[in-house]
Amino acid sequence: MLMTSQDIDPQAVLGFIVRRQQTPETACAYLGTDPSEIRADLEGLDQHWLETVRISASADGRIHGAAVVEWDEELDRSWVHGPWVEEDALRTAGPELLAAVTAQAPVTAHEMYADVAHDGLAWLAQHCGWRAGEANFEYSRTSPPPAGPQASDARAATGADEPTLRELHEREFPGTYATTEQLLDPDGTYSTSVIDGERAPVGYVSWQLQGEAAVYIDFLAVHPGARRKGLGQRLIAAAQEASGRSTVALTVDEHRPDARAFYAALGFTVTAATRPYRLQRPA
Ligand SMILES: CC(C)(COP(=O)(O)OP(=O)(O)OC[C@H]1O[C@@H](n2cnc3c(N)ncnc32)[C@H](O)[C@@H]1OP(=O)(O)O)[C@@H](O)C(=O)NCCC(=O)NCCS
Repeated sequence: MLMTSQDIDPQAVLGFIVRRQQTPETACAYLGTDPSEIRADLEGLDQHWLETVRISASADGRIHGAAVVEWDEELDRSWVHGPWVEEDALRTAGPELLAAVTAQAPVTAHEMYADVAHDGLAWLAQHCGWRAGEANFEYSRTSPPPAGPQASDARAATGADEPTLRELHEREFPGTYATTEQLLDPDGTYSTSVIDGERAPVGYVSWQLQGEAAVYIDFLAVHPGARRKGLGQRLIAAAQEASGRSTVALTVDEHRPDARAFYAALGFTVTAATRPYRLQRPA
């Protein structure tokens, strides 16, 4: 039976959601594990969660599923939070909840995100005709910044590096969110280092500071002819050295198995692995 927040104590629904958030196999990717943060995030949605939440419960009030939605009409897109559903109720309550929350959103494109380990959501998405997108892997490594006067042979990039950097950047990351000009802008948010080959740079790394302790690698690439010679490793060391940060974080898309092997070889661990699911309804 599907219910709204009028029918069921919101505290009980929140408790159910918090329990399902505790493991990647049952969590939705937007919310973390901390109960007060989950509550704050739900209350901060564009549409208050208590208006959009739909709950699957038995007649005696036992909750076995819930879902929430938020949408942006200008972007013509909604984001489903959940559905959080107990395994034995997935096949019945899952499709019902998904249909009930998306029906509220006056948009044609719908998205939801979950860990790649969330088999229940993968099944539900497929069953309901949602398309699974490319997974994104978050990596992190904490180690002391390299010691010594200069642990890497990298140097800070300058405007003179622009033509070579553009070629490398546009080949490896076509259409990405930051242009070569932005990576080289001394007043911008990115820092970029390069390692020189005989005539020009053969590899670059661009990063930003993240929080108090981390450096976030936005882009890293080595010319195909210069790979497997340790340049990638030295560029990571350069970003760590220049930033003075002990934690290095980054994300890699599923279609880059070489990069994933590289980060694993350097001792990075996967901290999250998120897959998007999308549904496009006719306008
Ligand atoms: C990922 C990339 C930067 C690695 O640069 P690199 O200079 O070749 O890496 P290194 O030589 O420092 O490799 C260090 C170790 O990582 C591992 N590694 C690197 N490339 C690998 C690959 N293609 N397959 C398996 N392991 C690999 C190896 O263990 C290697 O040590 P080894 O050569 O002694 O076996 C490079 O392949 C590249 O530019 N790829 C395209 C762009 C990209 O995917 N960037 C990362 C996106 S976030």
